[in-house]
Amino acid sequence: MVAQQPRAVQVDFGHEQRHRTPRGDGPRLVQLGPRPVRVPQHKPQPGAGEEAADDTLLCPPRRRPVRAASTWRWAFTFVIWIGYLQWMKFNGFNPPNDPVLEPIKSIRLMDAILDLSDPQYPKEPEWPEAEFIVGNPPFLGDKVMRGGLGDKYVEQLRTMYAGRIPGGADLCCYWFEKARAQIKAGHTIRAGLLGTQNVRGGASRKALDRIAETGSIFFGVSDRNWVLDGAMVHISMVGFDSGIENAKTLDGMTVATINPNLTGSVDITKAKRLQENAAIGFLGSCKGGSFDITESEAIRLVTASGNPHGRPNSGLLRPVVNSRDLLGRSEGRWIIDTGNLTLAEAALYTDPFAIVEARVKPTREVNRDKWLRENWWRPQRMRPEMQEAIGPLHRFCVTPTTSKHRIFSFLEPPDSS
Ligand SMILES: C[S@@+](CC[C@H](N)C(=O)[O-])C[C@H]1O[C@@H](n2cnc3c(N)ncnc32)[C@H](O)[C@@H]1O
Repeated sequence: MVAQQPRAVQVDFGHEQRHRTPRGDGPRLVQLGPRPVRVPQHKPQPGAGEEAADDTLLCPPRRRPVRAASTWRWAFTFVIWIGYLQWMKFNGFNPPNDPVLEPIKSIRLMDAILDLSDPQYPKEPEWPEAEFIVGNPPFLGDKVMRGGLGDKYVEQLRTMYAGRIPGGADLCCYWFEKARAQIKAGHTIRAGLLGTQNVRGGASRKALDRIAETGSIFFGVSDRNWVLDGAMVHISMVGFDSGIENAKTLDGMTVATINPNLTGSVDITKAKRLQENAAIGFLGSCKGGSFDITESEAIRLVTASGNPHGRPNSGLLRPVVNSRDLLGRSEGRWIIDTGNLTLAEAALYTDPFAIVEARVKPTREVNRDKWLRENWWRPQRMRPEMQEAIGPLHRFCVTPTTSKHRIFSFLEPPDSS
């Protein structure tokens, strides 16, 4: 079991040091960042450099050499000590002028979410007991995860966490789940993690739903700008525990409760689908490939003739609108919709088919999904039920699912002529 009275914690949210006031005397530092790190109980002891010699560290001002094999260990140790000395400085303690940096032997270099030490039998890695877990886990959205980590790793990871973290969740959610489980098991008191702002919604929110089921969120920053490799991303910060913390802070304000979507008002995460909306609300279509054509290409195809069956290309052309078109200026986009046509039927629309063959086939042919591979000339989901529902209407209402704010616009069904 962990001690109930934490004496100090350093919370490292990336490049910004945030600190909580220490209670009691000595420090305990815990960091699960670039690699899981646990520091059970340490404070700098001037003059302790000699006993520390078995794991060589940089010990100013004497500067010992660093063994290449332990460079990573040294680097993390160094970072933790710097954080600790800064924490002393900014919290009214007197850091030693010539600190000796002791080795921290509990640092482990390992994959934090999937143990592949025996590649035949992947295991869920055990995290050590620690008073607090703090970290900035890697962000990798569902769509790019396979490219970044490889199909095999992603499959193994998803199988390992099946029923806990859904397939569409961001990579950082696995750290949230592991930290939640540590708190539930009594191996940790509280955790503070940074995530993409996606943790507030969609499949990723499952990680926060589970945190709210077995404990509670006591600290949240719902949406904060973060500059990463020169690009601006939006992140969320979440502090959670087993439910023992009564003071809750969301976006700098004291609140009574923090919902898993990082709001403090009505908990819409518990909203249910209304049966009455079943046939009037639809998810938009999903092409699953480059079926798009420009407006000038659409005009060229509409006016072209010469299909072997004599039918016009207009039968396959549809205007489409996506979130960007709704929120900005529409570019007048169209797609080639081969619907349920067989390959032979679609090929009779000579020019549109040639475009699909050139632009869609190369990526669809190597897709992991059998249906997408074998039906390379067909868009993935054109939602015929939605098309049927909006067909007779003068106008219908749309809202982007990916935008920050919930906005609604009216659109008119395309003129069939
Ligand atoms: C967003 S960075 C944060 C780095 C650092 N903690 C900070 O705040 O600047 C995420 C880190 O997680 C590491 N990482 C990625 N996958 C990991 C895994 N499976 N296990 C442990 N660490 C991992 C990356 O190498 C990267 O250093």
